[in-house]
Amino acid sequence: MSLENKNVVLGVCGGIAAYKSCDIVRQLVKSKANVECVLTESGSEFITPLTLQTLSKNKVHRNMFDVPDEWSINHISLSQKADIIVIVPATADIIARFACGRANDLLTCTVLASKAHVLICPAMNSGMFSHKATQKNIGILQSYGYKFVMPEKGELACGEYGNGRFANVDVIISVIKGILGQC
Ligand SMILES: Cc1cc2nc3c(=O)[nH]c(=O)nc-3n(C[C@H](O)[C@H](O)[C@H](O)COP(=O)(O)O)c2cc1C
Repeated sequence: MSLENKNVVLGVCGGIAAYKSCDIVRQLVKSKANVECVLTESGSEFITPLTLQTLSKNKVHRNMFDVPDEWSINHISLSQKADIIVIVPATADIIARFACGRANDLLTCTVLASKAHVLICPAMNSGMFSHKATQKNIGILQSYGYKFVMPEKGELACGEYGNGRFANVDVIISVIKGILGQC
């Protein structure tokens, strides 16, 4: 399915699975989507803006206080442009911030201001994922209509085996296409 004329805002957060966001960008661009990446401060500890910029062929957005090249309200313009906002990987912390309605960085502002579809793909240690706080936050976001591609069981970066492994990239791509196909 072609994603021509579709705007995907990809939020990349600070987890080990951040490197898998590169493959997601690559596949979306191959399907002709316009991909704009928002990299959190922690995300940039795991993956460079240069990599995401090269793969997406677009400037990577990081700081809401950057002076824009042309007139636009940076922390709002992305939310208006997006057909879908996809969070890959979603950390426990970003899920908690979304659930609280925080707007303390560019990614949380973008999601809070947007009427676009939001797809969240968590990846974390199994203890963090199964904790009541995380599960409660996920429930809150589901009640807002946000969609999830839940993590899988498997070997985790921390060396444990459990539920928290980033979902298969092909599954995430097909869910994005399914959502955008209905727009
Ligand atoms: C080596 C390392 C790996 C991490 N991996 C994860 C992870 O997979 N999932 C997660 O929820 N947090 C992980 N964290 C913690 C997050 O980086 C931290 O909560 C951070 O504040 C998240 O910020 P962000 O959501 O704005 O990107 C990791 C931290 C370190 C140092």
